[in-house]
Amino acid sequence: MIMKKIMLLTLTVAAILLPACQSSIKNANDRRLDARVDSVLKLMTIDEKIGQMVLYSSDWDVTGPSLNKNYIDEIRKGNCGNIFNAYTAAYTRKLQKIAVEESRLKIPLLFGYDVIHGQKTIFPISLGESCSWDLAAIEKSARVSAAEAAASGINWTFAPMVDISVDPRWGRVSEGAGEDPFLGAKIAAARVHGFQGNNLADSLSILACVKHFAAYGAPLAGRDYNTVDMSKRQFLDMYLPPYKAGIDAGAMSVMSAFNEFDGVPATGSQYLLTDVLRKQLGFKGFVVTDYTSINEMVNHGVAANEADAGLLAIKAGVDMDMQGGVYAKYLKNQLEKGLVSEKMIDESVRRILKVKFMLGLFDDPYKYCNEAREKREVYSAAHLQAALDVAKKSLVLLKNNDQTLPLNKGQKLAVIGELANSKRDLLGSWKAAGEWNDINSILDEIKIYNGTTKVLYAEGCKKMGNDRSGFPLALSVAKQADKIIMVMGEDAGWSGEAASRTDIRVPGVQTELLEKLKTLHKPIVVVLMNGRPLDLSRENDLADAILEAWFPGSMGAKAVTQVLFGNYNPSGKLTMTFPRNVGQIPIFYYEKNTGRPIYLPDPKYKSRYIDCPNDPLFPFGYGLSYTTFAYSEIKLSNHILSPDDSITASVNVTNTGTCDGEEIVQCYVRDLVGSVTRPVKELKGFEKIALKVGESKVVKFTITPDLLAFHRLDMTYGTEPGDFKLFIGGNSRDVKETGFKLVQ
Ligand code: BGC
Repeated sequence: MIMKKIMLLTLTVAAILLPACQSSIKNANDRRLDARVDSVLKLMTIDEKIGQMVLYSSDWDVTGPSLNKNYIDEIRKGNCGNIFNAYTAAYTRKLQKIAVEESRLKIPLLFGYDVIHGQKTIFPISLGESCSWDLAAIEKSARVSAAEAAASGINWTFAPMVDISVDPRWGRVSEGAGEDPFLGAKIAAARVHGFQGNNLADSLSILACVKHFAAYGAPLAGRDYNTVDMSKRQFLDMYLPPYKAGIDAGAMSVMSAFNEFDGVPATGSQYLLTDVLRKQLGFKGFVVTDYTSINEMVNHGVAANEADAGLLAIKAGVDMDMQGGVYAKYLKNQLEKGLVSEKMIDESVRRILKVKFMLGLFDDPYKYCNEAREKREVYSAAHLQAALDVAKKSLVLLKNNDQTLPLNKGQKLAVIGELANSKRDLLGSWKAAGEWNDINSILDEIKIYNGTTKVLYAEGCKKMGNDRSGFPLALSVAKQADKIIMVMGEDAGWSGEAASRTDIRVPGVQTELLEKLKTLHKPIVVVLMNGRPLDLSRENDLADAILEAWFPGSMGAKAVTQVLFGNYNPSGKLTMTFPRNVGQIPIFYYEKNTGRPIYLPDPKYKSRYIDCPNDPLFPFGYGLSYTTFAYSEIKLSNHILSPDDSITASVNVTNTGTCDGEEIVQCYVRDLVGSVTRPVKELKGFEKIALKVGESKVVKFTITPDLLAFHRLDMTYGTEPGDFKLFIGGNSRDVKETGFKLVQ
């Protein structure tokens, strides 16, 4: 009898689900979607509903505290509707089969994974990639990552991470797009488009997850998971734009952050998850916690126990509990006691089911589990080519005295440093299923390019520790060469989650070795691998050329080599300020002027340090090329900007050097007088142009009033009339300047 009932139910569900598959529904507001979701919802028991709100990690690639849950059994019972850290077409098929053949309602699983900068083909770390300022290339990188993930059984990535950060002590700056809200917003949108494509149901698309909501990038003292405390104005103007852009681009999931905000942990914050996310930003997807962030509200001290923490979370707007097991354990009982309403639970389940429909999972739950496709699409030549392209564009040339670079082929080169010979580090943190055994190190690629006999190698020292015993060999090797290339920086594990530093200099005795190499009086090129802005004051004194390579991914070594030898002219520009030392942090270009700015004549009583200049070593937007660019004065179409109008600012940029190159032209504004103080510069436009030797191009930026809006004294969002400065240049420091007036 019971068996019959179940069969009937199954048939009913199938009948309801079928029409959904025939027309793919792209729009979250599509009413047909609601009808189908509701028709499933009404068949569900309360346990099954709560099961959809549960996400457990498989035992494959655990990224936090493990609960040792028997997730397979939970899937079978309908108590777990979503899995993360499981991939490969075969394994996800096995789990999906349990969900759709053995659970009562046969609702397909979501498979989440941290596909942050690639699945198996690994792209540069996100911070590096952002330095390309190349939105098409960034979107392509996410698209390729989605295609590989989709072919490996994954239908949901925990990316993009769009947290603005101005603190390089925080290890997770490596996962973001740097310090700037305007650029960050453009990149957030590009990444969401890349992951989700035009249609979530497309077999190459996966669900994106904008994270970590919100303001996770501003922990006090740069210590991961630490308290965040900022004004709401600062939050809304400087931190919110990239989250908003990701949501506007269609991201259908958002991850709540670990940190507190204004005294309330983000996972229990009605202000963040309901007032801002749902009401202000109009988010229509579902909210998942970051790992056990519900449980952690007990440690935060806003809930006496996990059950109470769960109540805070559901009331704030959290739909899915990642790994914490709190909803699974307490929600039903809380419903029975009247502490939560079934309506609330239904709302969350509805959001989750909606996304499963949009992904086309009810149509074909195995659409991501195709082994033949996995073999064909993952790590393909075309994907590796895309990774090479972005990697080249992410490299930033920080210094190049006397044209030390590019190198001439065939010279005798001494390559020094453990990182030169490392494959694993090239991939950086969050390397997903990235393979490093079969990729080339920087040393390998330099040998291929320059000829093995012309390349000498000595490790010299490790990236960490204080063993100097390799110094003599490194020095004797370097003595025999025409030029020295020292590859130095951080271990890949020194950035990313839970990898904050208080000292952002190059670790170990690497710089000491550089000092010794300097005594040989040979040209020295430093290639850096690191996941955050470093204090490079000492290296900047010692090296003739510095190439910032970040962790450049599977094809990174080739990219570095092509740039070193001038096969590609570097074009990347920093998206985070590089301080002179850790004491300048937080340091960012959109600072306020203060009442006592540094340029005042008084020698003492102004906003400055007594032991260090105020300005950074390398400013936001900075990066050299092997050629040079000259900027004309700015021409404005009009010096008056009216409310519904726009003005155009143009400059003529000329390649004045000796090789073809690309330049990222940047446009900034400053609002001179506001009801609240305004930043000294804010990026409002950029364009990457290619110029042949001697060629000129006019670059135009359109300034509209909405670009000048901010949260005014009364917290309304809009513009204020008055005078503005407008700047255009190749970085945030070296700019041409003009002005205009915004009238009412
Ligand atoms: C991280 C998230 C990540 C999650 C799942 C957490 O520890 O903060 O960014 O998506 O783990 O792996």
